[in-house]
Amino acid sequence: MEVVIQPTAQAAADLVARIIDRELRKNPRLVLGLASGNTMESVYARLAQMHSEEGLDFSACRTFNLDEYIGLPANHGNSYRHYMKQHLFLRVNINQQNTHLPDGMAGDLAAECAKYENLIVEHGGIDLQLLGIGQNGHLGFNEPFSSFRSRTRVIVLSRATRAQNAPLFSKPESVPKQAITMGVGTILDCRRNLLLATGAEKASMVAKAVEGPITSMISASALQLHPNCTFILDEAAAGKLKESEYHQWVFENQPEWEPFRSSSPSAKKQFPSPPTTKKTVETISDAIE
Ligand code: GLP
Repeated sequence: MEVVIQPTAQAAADLVARIIDRELRKNPRLVLGLASGNTMESVYARLAQMHSEEGLDFSACRTFNLDEYIGLPANHGNSYRHYMKQHLFLRVNINQQNTHLPDGMAGDLAAECAKYENLIVEHGGIDLQLLGIGQNGHLGFNEPFSSFRSRTRVIVLSRATRAQNAPLFSKPESVPKQAITMGVGTILDCRRNLLLATGAEKASMVAKAVEGPITSMISASALQLHPNCTFILDEAAAGKLKESEYHQWVFENQPEWEPFRSSSPSAKKQFPSPPTTKKTVETISDAIE
């Protein structure tokens, strides 16, 4: 797991958008996993801007969203299909037929979940999955106690999740009680996972997910088991991490991050400089002696 800390929420969202931009230019037929929530709105706004101003082409891209509410038709203002249209699909040149979300109105929900899993497989699996994190540590709608081997399925939303999402609904009781979500196992099968979290209210859950024990009580801690996972955080969301300095050191020195470093010069000045190589050698020698 890698953790990249950016000075602001906007810088963190921009970095996520630039990673998607780079992957999409390398592979125009990218299978992109998408997430909903307030945090993602700045990412989608930036991608829409990259499309209109820099020609970022979504025409061959295929997408799969993490989740959808049960009981809300696609054109309902609170459905995630509606959210995706509003924030991304209608703002870029994506082929609507290449966009996939579970159907929360399906008559046979179990069959719909199995169909969704099969569709992902038929598309060759998800190349890059975008993730947010709920205040209870959920990924998609994988509430506490979700098995790490779980697949796309129906889940009962926790009181905490319904309360967290209530402000978007006309009244709190209108928040659906169930949703379809990709499972933790489905997410762990994605080739790369990119989790974006911003704001101080996410700091404690981020610290548990990144540095805490791996537990089904916190679905996001499952990402510690994933071979290619990056948490991209603003300083507020990283506020409770113990190893921020090391993460910054990795970002400054890992060659793969080189293309993404130049436009985030402010990242460096936010942190104490890591020890120079010479000093490190001397410190190690001292310790050995
Ligand atoms: C919902 C979504 C999650 C998302 C979470 C965080 O619960 N199902 O996929 O991670 O919201 O939302 P926000 O970014 O608004 O904090």
